[in-house]
Amino acid sequence: MSNPFWSPALAGLEPYVPGEQPRGRKLIKLNTNENPYPPSPRIREALADPALVQALRRYPDPESADLCAAIATQYGVESDQVFVGNGSDEVLAHSFYSFFRHDEPLLFPDITYSFYPVYCQLYGIDYRTPALRDDFSIAVEDYAGPAAGAILPNPNAPSGRCLSLDEIEKLLQLQPERVVAIDEAYIAFSGERGGDSAISLIDRYPNLLVIQTLSKSHALAGLRLGFALGQKHLIEGLNRTKNSFNSYPIDSVAQRLAVAAIGDGGHLAESCNRVVATRERVAAALAELDFEVVPSRANFLLASPGTMDAEALYLALRERDILVRHFNKPRLAGYLRISIGTDEEMDQLLAAVREIQTAQGTSQTR
Ligand SMILES: Cc1ncc(COP(=O)(O)O)c(C=O)c1O
Repeated sequence: MSNPFWSPALAGLEPYVPGEQPRGRKLIKLNTNENPYPPSPRIREALADPALVQALRRYPDPESADLCAAIATQYGVESDQVFVGNGSDEVLAHSFYSFFRHDEPLLFPDITYSFYPVYCQLYGIDYRTPALRDDFSIAVEDYAGPAAGAILPNPNAPSGRCLSLDEIEKLLQLQPERVVAIDEAYIAFSGERGGDSAISLIDRYPNLLVIQTLSKSHALAGLRLGFALGQKHLIEGLNRTKNSFNSYPIDSVAQRLAVAAIGDGGHLAESCNRVVATRERVAAALAELDFEVVPSRANFLLASPGTMDAEALYLALRERDILVRHFNKPRLAGYLRISIGTDEEMDQLLAAVREIQTAQGTSQTR
């Protein structure tokens, strides 16, 4: 695509395409890993405060100091070890610019969050993509050698598979001179108490940057709030980039609401536990329906529908107003990524799959 007014760099860009956000039609939406449950009730209370409207007259705090302090308290770090951005996508973009522009290639898995190659393209970063093993797990030993650094989601997306903290430490030791960013967008769904976040390693590894988001775990995808934690020098680096791009990325309403949500650990645990329980139930039910289900520690399942064609199933579900994600990409084309909705939504999904299997004669009665 081109246009005489566009710079050559713009003409060469291939932007990221987010999952569909349908307008108008009421669908069961299991395609963008949103949380099916409402955010903390403290959000509603904070929204009712008239001071919030008053605050809109002025620019927001460019440093989001209250919010950084709240995140620091919650995660056991200092305020100057916290960087906040407009969704973790913005935190990721600034991280790519700040840490990964070197002569060597950046490393990330061949199957992972598809925004990573887009940032590389935007900032002219060369990259190499070590292949996941056949079971979709990451082989950390592949991340050795000269590199601009490494980034990977843990749990990975769209596989849902998780690395242990030992494996993450190994990765950090393989690249001691470069930043290793662990994108923990889904970590809250990974274990009983929020899983094995790499945050506990920050004190010992000056090259570790941990990135999280309120979008999935806190049910606040619409608020656009992500953050990074790391040693002070990395946070300073991110602030240099942010202050060369947009001084006020977090509006006053988002700052205020995020403070309210961050403090409600009880609500977070309850909502994530519900999602995890549903995930386990649905994984077992899909296996019963002859799906091959990748073991997931996130709020979605990657599953291959046995003898059925994955794209045909995606379309048949869509006809029944159920939206899941199909990636037409090598190694993924035979799978669907299914976000975990409410129990009722997931029961409707399972019923629709059974109906489609019966109509196509593909079910194997057990
Ligand atoms: C692995 C991963 N990282 C980051 C993001 C971005 O999240 P947000 O910008 O909503 O914080 C996503 C969203 O789907 C994701 O899957």
